[in-house]
Amino acid sequence: MNQLRMIQPDDFHVHLRDGDCLARTVPDTAARFGRAVVMPNLSPPVTTVAQAADYRERILKHVPDGAAFEPLMTLYLTETTPPAEIRRLKESGFVRAVKYYPAGATTHSAAGVKTIEKVYGVIEAMAELQVPLLIHGEVTDTEVDHFDREAVFIDRILAPLLVRFPQLRVVFEHITTREAVDFVDQGPASLGATITAHHLLYNRNALFEDGIRPHYYCRPLLKAEGHRKALVAAATGDCARFFLGTDSAPHARRDKESACGCAGIYSAPYALEFYAEVFANAGRLDRMESFASRNGAAFYGLPLNQRRCVLIRENQRIPDALPFGGETVIPLRAGGTCAWRASADE
Ligand code: NCD
Ligand code: ZN
Repeated sequence: MNQLRMIQPDDFHVHLRDGDCLARTVPDTAARFGRAVVMPNLSPPVTTVAQAADYRERILKHVPDGAAFEPLMTLYLTETTPPAEIRRLKESGFVRAVKYYPAGATTHSAAGVKTIEKVYGVIEAMAELQVPLLIHGEVTDTEVDHFDREAVFIDRILAPLLVRFPQLRVVFEHITTREAVDFVDQGPASLGATITAHHLLYNRNALFEDGIRPHYYCRPLLKAEGHRKALVAAATGDCARFFLGTDSAPHARRDKESACGCAGIYSAPYALEFYAEVFANAGRLDRMESFASRNGAAFYGLPLNQRRCVLIRENQRIPDALPFGGETVIPLRAGGTCAWRASADE
């Protein structure tokens, strides 16, 4: 198959950042995706519906003419989020979910949750109003090996949480391990998961190819090959609760190429092409539309996008660097090639 026509996809996990960076991120994401779930880890974080409304307006200013792009906003859960904010969220119509960061797990997560019991009241309101909780699933305990932090999170936090709140809708974000695949696969209908292109394409060797490779550093970390294979099987398989979320998370080049580099990979400009490569390599291009355009919409209770797009098997070169709000950002696989090209299907 050298061409794939499909319903326009959505990105169920993206970091658009703010300010001048929106001129880069919003057009890149809107060029391929009809909707995107926008992460709230700005500094300071987006913790209220009022802040999310302002942030949404700033994003919409950068949507190119002719693009039909809808940002699906989220709130950042803190230990002081009042349950009343969940009711305001539900009434807003444009805030769709709440993001749970374990404090210290990743970029701009310091305001996240240290003690889960402290957010039980908010989670109860979310379960009642059927507001999805989007979970960054890694423990932060320093004695736990970095590569084990997702699997340990399942046992210590996620499994007990689902038992305590059986009505709660949960998205286990950017899963990276076979333990997470199995947990979601065997889980209830209320549990979904996003999978990034980079975790489907690369294993942890990419971090150490001929030296340390900061542009392949993200949270959760790339894992060993067996885990990557389990993710590909999940994305291309029959369970409709796995869906596309790029976790595209740009940082300026100098913040990545540093003695203490930031976590995050900028995949948005070629994200759909990268996913096509994964599905083609697995011989399962026929499954791409479900993963990219149907499953996430169904989980979030959204209609399918009206527009369509086409993916063509055609090599394209990925730029070495891109302008990024007065700085530069290095996209995933910079200077390399991708075997697919995406465009709108008119
Ligand atoms: C994200 C970021 O930079 O905001 N970084 C990352 O490595 N994925 C935060 C996150 O989603 O963990
Ligand atoms: Zn993220």
